[in-house]
Amino acid sequence: MGLHRAQPRIYVALDSAKPQRVRELIGELDPALCGIKIGKEAFTALGPAAVEWARERGFPVFLDLKFHDIPNTVRQACRTAADLGVSLVNVHASGGRRMLEAAREAIEPGPDAPGLIAVTVLTSMEDADLAEVGVTDGTATQVERLAGLVVGAGLDGVVCSAHEAGAMSRRFSEDGLIVTPGVRPAGSARDDQRRVMTPAEAQAAGATSLVIGRPITGAESPGQALAEIVASL
Ligand code: C5P
Repeated sequence: MGLHRAQPRIYVALDSAKPQRVRELIGELDPALCGIKIGKEAFTALGPAAVEWARERGFPVFLDLKFHDIPNTVRQACRTAADLGVSLVNVHASGGRRMLEAAREAIEPGPDAPGLIAVTVLTSMEDADLAEVGVTDGTATQVERLAGLVVGAGLDGVVCSAHEAGAMSRRFSEDGLIVTPGVRPAGSARDDQRRVMTPAEAQAAGATSLVIGRPITGAESPGQALAEIVASL
């Protein structure tokens, strides 16, 4: 018996606030090949309808809202997310042990439960940024410290860069979810991503699901771009 719903190998990030664009992409992609990631931009503009459109077409949905609040609020938010029928939910590990435990209580492990994962340190933060918020021992140490809390609270995995995937996957059981953005097929634009890996490299490094946005959503044919990435795995 699994501890959470089965996960797709790829979640396509639909980072748009335009309903037409979101619907178009949902229509062009193949639910047999990927899930859909709905983040703060799309969810703020479109609400649960965006989740519903993707689910209607048969896509697993990653609701990427990175909850970070007092334990009771995060508990209720996680419960509400699970009620939307999504397959993956996330929170910020820096919300602390009690917040992580509240999230876990809201989403009890089971084959129909969404995966529950945490962000450790945002990859946009460097040592100097952490020092400004009072964390002076560096990103690497902070990632390890927060990963310990995530494992301790019984969450299913983490969102992390492909460069951290190996170290992170050793902390979880074989059911662990290591979800990595910053993935770029060979030859495609890096956009604002810095330390990228190809989909195959990220998977070999320990990623269990890849989050890919612009290389697919910005392609002339998103369906074809997705199929090519799947073929490269
Ligand atoms: O278009 P691109 O492939 O860069 O999109 C990656 C997605 O993953 C975006 O939704 C971005 O917000 C998200 N993400 C990221 N890096 C992180 C965490 C999330 O790029 N560290």
